[in-house]
Amino acid sequence: MRNEGDAPVTVSRLTEPTDHRNQLLEDVRHGLTAYRKHLPSKYFYDARGSDLFEDITRLPEYYLTEAETELLAQHSDNLMARIEPDELVELGSGSSRKTRMLIDAMRRSGGTRYVPIDISEEALRAAAKKLCASYSWLEVEGLVGDYVADLDKVRRRGRRLIVFLGSTIGNYVPTLRYSLLRAVAAALATGDSFLLGMDLVKDESTMIAAYDDAAGVSAEFNLNILRVVNRELDGDIPVDAFEHVTRFDRQFSCIAQSLRATREVVANIRALNLAVTFHVGEEIHTEVSCKFTRDGVEKDFAGAGMRLDDWFTDSAGRFALALGSHA
Ligand code: SAH
Ligand code: AVI
Repeated sequence: MRNEGDAPVTVSRLTEPTDHRNQLLEDVRHGLTAYRKHLPSKYFYDARGSDLFEDITRLPEYYLTEAETELLAQHSDNLMARIEPDELVELGSGSSRKTRMLIDAMRRSGGTRYVPIDISEEALRAAAKKLCASYSWLEVEGLVGDYVADLDKVRRRGRRLIVFLGSTIGNYVPTLRYSLLRAVAAALATGDSFLLGMDLVKDESTMIAAYDDAAGVSAEFNLNILRVVNRELDGDIPVDAFEHVTRFDRQFSCIAQSLRATREVVANIRALNLAVTFHVGEEIHTEVSCKFTRDGVEKDFAGAGMRLDDWFTDSAGRFALALGSHA
């Protein structure tokens, strides 16, 4: 229960629902009529997709969350004491579960405002509700939108720390990663900081298992994108005609996920007035999860106009936190 005098909690939209829908229509038409079919991974995250992702973070094979939690537990206090942000802006905040360590540390260093941005309204509202129950002193301004397209619309209130956790940066191929990092750099003023969590290159079997777990949760998450397309665009793609495929692409240093048709399918996407044929063995590419090295991150930061100020890895060397600022 919130009391009178407690800090406010709001959830508002950065992206108009019509703009979101037009983008979805365009992305699905483009992706399913392409020579090599593909769908953008941001469409995984309806309410079910966000829940499935949370399930993934608890899988024994998905070491990323555990490794990043270890890092945040170890470094949150020092980072916050060093940066002293007035506001914490989080890109792709999801459940905000790990962020609690940063929020606790921010309070000790004097900051009071948290701005989570997520495309999934359901995940954002659920997280805001839980945060509001735990932190009466915290001003929460939840923003439903696309953190690449809409970051410049976020109003600033004092010194800012932008955080991007979970290795979600890995879900961007290099050209889009560059645009994202440019958008972050443009949202930073002198004295602001950027904290980025990312998965590091390691042996292939460990990386592949994280995206192809024994319980099949990753497969369900991947297939969910077809359910989103069917529901949002009145489609009839038979989900049971597709299987989950995971491989490591050495050239791009990323896990690539796709959905492969196990039989010939002709599906109708009625909102697009589009009939799509999937041949046996044909794949729809759904996600890249790039894996990083310190050198690569330093170059990516420099290319986007940022400096790498610090670098921390977990005890097993699986995951890193990079601290950056405007160059
Ligand atoms: N940061 C959390 C969640 C990672 S899952 C963690 O580390 O566990 C990725 C999150 O980013 C999801 O909540 C998804 O809804 C959100 N997301 C993906 N693409 C997005 C985009 N373009 N704009 C805003 N949010 C996005
Ligand atoms: C959110 N993102 C960083 C996850 C990842 O590891 O690429 C999404 C995911 N896809 C399959 N499993 C998890």
